[in-house]
Amino acid sequence: MEPSIEQIREDALAELDAAADPETVNALSIRYLGRKGRVTLFLRNISSLPPEERPAAGKKANQVKKALEQAFADAVEAMAAAPSVEDRIDVSLPGRNPRPGHVHPITQITNRICEIFLRLGFDVAEGPEVEKDWYNFEALNFPKDHPARDMQDTFFVSEDIVLRTHTSPIQVRIMEKQPPPVRVVAPGKVFRCDSDLTHTPMFHQVEGLLVDDRITFGDLKGVLTTFVHEMFDEKTSLRFRPSFFPFTEPSAEVDILCVICRGEGCRVCSQTGWLEVLGAGMVHPAVFENVGYDTERISGFAFGMGVERIAMLKYGIDDIRRFFDNDIRFLGQF
Ligand code: DAH
Repeated sequence: MEPSIEQIREDALAELDAAADPETVNALSIRYLGRKGRVTLFLRNISSLPPEERPAAGKKANQVKKALEQAFADAVEAMAAAPSVEDRIDVSLPGRNPRPGHVHPITQITNRICEIFLRLGFDVAEGPEVEKDWYNFEALNFPKDHPARDMQDTFFVSEDIVLRTHTSPIQVRIMEKQPPPVRVVAPGKVFRCDSDLTHTPMFHQVEGLLVDDRITFGDLKGVLTTFVHEMFDEKTSLRFRPSFFPFTEPSAEVDILCVICRGEGCRVCSQTGWLEVLGAGMVHPAVFENVGYDTERISGFAFGMGVERIAMLKYGIDDIRRFFDNDIRFLGQF
C-alpha cells in the first residue's frame, strides 16, 4: 500500500532533523520534491483515486509540498547563518589544563605531625567520631556531674552518645585492646558547640599516648621538645605550666615561644611572648584502672594538640574559619 501523505511528511521532517549540513538538505529535497521524489509521485498518483477523493487529497498533498519546500529552505538558511566550528573556536589557542587538586592544609599539618611521631617510634591510630559517653568522659575520669564536664560544650546525640569533644577517648580504646607498652598518636575530627575567630564547631586534634615501665615527666618533656623543634625550629623553646585535666596528674599546658615575635610580645601572643599549643600530663591511675592496666607496674604520659592552632601559627593565618570556607584561592596557597 502507498504510504499516506502524512507519513511522507513525517519521514521528511525526521530526516531533516538529522541533517547536519546544506548538502544533506539538498539531497533530501530531491528525494522528496524532485521529479521522482516521494511527494511528486504521490501527487501524480492522485489521478488514480476515486473522483470524489481527488480534490481533498490533492489539496492536502500540495500543502505538504509547500510546507516541506519551506522547511528545507529554512534549514539551509539557518545552517548558512551558524558560525562554523573554526569561527567559534580558535584552534590555535593553548589548551586549558584541568587544575590539579592538592592536600588540604589541615591534612598536610596532620600528616606532618604524625610523620614526626612515627619517626620517634609511635604508631598512628584512629577512633570513631560519634562516641560513647563512657569513652569520651567516664573512662577518662570525668564523673557524671564533675564540673570539668562543663568545660566542653558537647553535642549530644543521645543521653549517652556524643560527638567526641576531643581525641582522648582513643587512648582508652587502644589500651582496652592491647597490653603495654603503647606508643601511639591518634589524629581526628572533634566537635564542640563553639564558633568565633579561633573556634569552629568541628576542628582537629592529635592525641598522643605513651605507656611503658618507668615513664616519667622527663620523657614527656623530651618527646614534646623534639616534636616542637621538628615542627617549628630548634629556637622554639617550650614552657610547661601546671594545669588540670581529669585524666592526667600532674597536668600541664604547654606553651611555645611566640613564633611571630620570638618572645618580644605581639598581637598574636597577646603581648605575653608565649603561645599555648598543647595539653599534656602523666596518665591518671583511674584511667589505667578503667582499662585494667596494673598501675603499680606501669606509667605513661598523654598529650593533645589542636591541628588548626598549629597550622595557623605555622602559616600566619588569623581566622580559623578560612580553613573551612572552601575558597580555592585561599586553600591553593598552601
Ligand atoms: N583532651 C584535651 C582537650 O581537648 C587535651 C589534652 C590534654 C589531651 C591533656 C591529653 C592530655 O591527652 O594529657 O582539651
